[in-house]
Amino acid sequence: MIERQLLIAGNWKMHKTQGEARVLTREILRGLSYGLRAEVMVAPPYTALAAVAAELKGSTITLGAQDAFWEQQGAYTGAISPVMLADAGCHYVIVGHSERRQHFGDSNRDVNRKLLAVLDAGLTPILCIGETIEERQAEKTLLVVAEQLKEGLAQLPAGSRERVVIAYEPVWAIGTGLTATPSQAQEVQAFIRSLLRELIDQAAESTRILYGGSVTPDNAASLLSQPDIDGALVGGASLKSDSFLKIITAAG
Ligand code: PGA
Repeated sequence: MIERQLLIAGNWKMHKTQGEARVLTREILRGLSYGLRAEVMVAPPYTALAAVAAELKGSTITLGAQDAFWEQQGAYTGAISPVMLADAGCHYVIVGHSERRQHFGDSNRDVNRKLLAVLDAGLTPILCIGETIEERQAEKTLLVVAEQLKEGLAQLPAGSRERVVIAYEPVWAIGTGLTATPSQAQEVQAFIRSLLRELIDQAAESTRILYGGSVTPDNAASLLSQPDIDGALVGGASLKSDSFLKIITAAG
């Protein structure tokens, strides 16, 4: 069986000024233990990327962005391109987060264009997928997740198959304190991996599938012990160093 290195990713959303971001980064770096097996990533807002990149220099923590546009340059006022994010020191870019889908109208097609542009710039996309509470109640979870996954990964170049990370984030669990139980998350994530086998063949075995949605120090270990949960995308609990560090520790 392929060993997948766990990834603990902090999504800071629209939080932290540059100064606050520096302080949080330093606290995380100070609290990291030696011999950590998991990979750690933080995704600050665009305005704090440079400040956090400077703090992370020489450390093992990687930098990510929360979104990107699908063109690399041009007359797109307000947009940030993957090439710019690579230049700012990012390694990862989150695409398709449910808050982008909900508040900014990102469709599956838009998410796919973003994912391909991120790969084109040499970065690693984290593709977020997940159902709403209405969809879950209507027993459409697997249908919705399958559609988001297939459309999100459309036209993926064969050479990029190994580079994609998936995050299963049930919308009803994000920022609500309602976490999917480990078995609920495992069920969907095993399904995602079975679909990945159809879409990207053997690369599915090494693809990391993160869980996101109200991950806390209390529930992290039981979620991460599931066979198809290869890390966590953490929102609220990543904004404070003590809770984020505890989640990192739970990952081993
Ligand atoms: P949450 O957010 O941990 O605050 O629920 C997770 C996310 O949106 O990535």
